[in-house]
Amino acid sequence: MALTRITAAEAAALIQNGQTIGLSGFTPAGVPKSVPAEIAKKAKHEHEESRPFKVNILTGASTGQSCDGEMSNQHAICFRAPYTTNSDFRRHVNANEISYSDLNLSNMATQIRQGYLGDVDWAILEACEVEVVGDKARIYLTAAGGISPTVARLAKQGVIVELNAFHSKACMGIHDVYEIEDHPFRTPIMITKASDRIGKSYVEVDASRIVGIVECNIPDEARAFKDPDPITTQIGQNVADFLLYNLKKGLIPKSFLNLQSGVGSGANAVLGALGHCKEVPNFNIYTEVLQDAPVNLMKEGRVLSASACSLTVTNDCLKDIYSNMDFFRDKLVLRPSEISNNPEVIARIGVCSLNTAIEADIYGHVNSTKICGTKMMNGIGGSADFTNNAYLSIFTCGSTTKGGAISSIVPFASHIDHTSHFIDAVITEYGVADLRGKCSMEKAEELIKVAHPDYRPMLREYLKYAEHFGGHTHHCLSAAFAMHDTFLRKGDMRLTDWAEYVK
Ligand code: COA
Repeated sequence: MALTRITAAEAAALIQNGQTIGLSGFTPAGVPKSVPAEIAKKAKHEHEESRPFKVNILTGASTGQSCDGEMSNQHAICFRAPYTTNSDFRRHVNANEISYSDLNLSNMATQIRQGYLGDVDWAILEACEVEVVGDKARIYLTAAGGISPTVARLAKQGVIVELNAFHSKACMGIHDVYEIEDHPFRTPIMITKASDRIGKSYVEVDASRIVGIVECNIPDEARAFKDPDPITTQIGQNVADFLLYNLKKGLIPKSFLNLQSGVGSGANAVLGALGHCKEVPNFNIYTEVLQDAPVNLMKEGRVLSASACSLTVTNDCLKDIYSNMDFFRDKLVLRPSEISNNPEVIARIGVCSLNTAIEADIYGHVNSTKICGTKMMNGIGGSADFTNNAYLSIFTCGSTTKGGAISSIVPFASHIDHTSHFIDAVITEYGVADLRGKCSMEKAEELIKVAHPDYRPMLREYLKYAEHFGGHTHHCLSAAFAMHDTFLRKGDMRLTDWAEYVK
């Protein structure tokens, strides 16, 4: 059966106002780019003609500028889930123009199957190859797994495939596509180590459900990372020292743990620093996003194998992987997000999670998503999937940001994504707050120790006022957000005057 070639504009013309689109990809990696950009153009045209046009977007995680950026700028998105990093999209979300639902990434495909997010009308998948075998089509995904098998199976109107020649056919076989059964028929996921494979290397659909193939040649839209700086390098060193301490004490197995590392420049730098610490044994990675640093560590033999959902790497790094697939084939596996981030698997195989916090409070609660409690940064991503199920869960952050005007250690986190029950350690450039086996007040001592020296006396002063109110966990509620409030009013948390707040 021959598949029909259509243009991106013809594909966009099929999409109607109010419909829901499920996209391949996870982070900007593996996301279709030509059709979403045409949908944005269609939205512009429809709005110029005074016709309503907005769609709902379901993805694995964030996307890139062609989708989240262009579409939000053209007011083409009604509802979107789950994660995003795009600054244009962020602006529209924080202006309350888009209904944005932030979800744990492991749960996205399940929520679609349960019908919580409504019907999926279209699936648009980026592929490096499509083969027809009998009445079935095999869609070979590119740089990410995401929610592709689920949306391809459920899309009521059909599947549009973006065949992107930028991605080498050499990456066929990198994916392990497996979809979890619905409740109550779920069976154990038979992964016991990072490199295990349990599924197919392609997404399979009835060939008749492919509405069109859109050919294009567009690079991935991953952001470049900030180079490691003295602070992120020191944090990486502190993480390495902490892991070595745990190893020597017998608190983690001699064979070491699988590492997960979060997203962003901080996470990339920390994993790089960890890899270069010779005393840390060679390790395996079970994570959602593989950035440049761990790929380089694989080439150096420091990382033995890696399971991820996406290759969120620079295009140079991606090309390098494609030209060395003989090396990477048995060491690197990409999975759908419900498997890469699966709580059952993470809890079974023993993972050390390393995620980045926006802020942590003195009792060990972490905010990963909202600046000053209100403005959405990116979303929770997979940080809770890993933190809540890890053998050892670590958050890292620089002790301050914005030139020192903001402390990352605060009396009360202005929004809480991760409670202290799930967090073993918070690490800054000033050291490790080891929270294990400690009560609230002992945790406060640990966390103040890793705050920036400018803020330690302020945090101690807060505790002095808070002590007056007693209880298991001391707080002075009228002053708990004084540092945030002072930043919002005066632009610098260091100007906090407790007397204004303590009542
Ligand atoms: N108050 C205000 N702004 C803050 C802040 C705070 N407490 N902490 C960080 N920021 C700002 C930084 O100043 C920076 O702003 P800029 O872009 O204007 O320079 C921005 O947030 C990003 O911070 P940066 O230090 O560059 O960190 P990063 O690139 O390592 O990203 C997170 C940090 C928290 C935003 C990112 O890791 C994230 O989105 N995490 C949530 C999802 C997640 O953990 N996924 C991984 C699961 S596997």
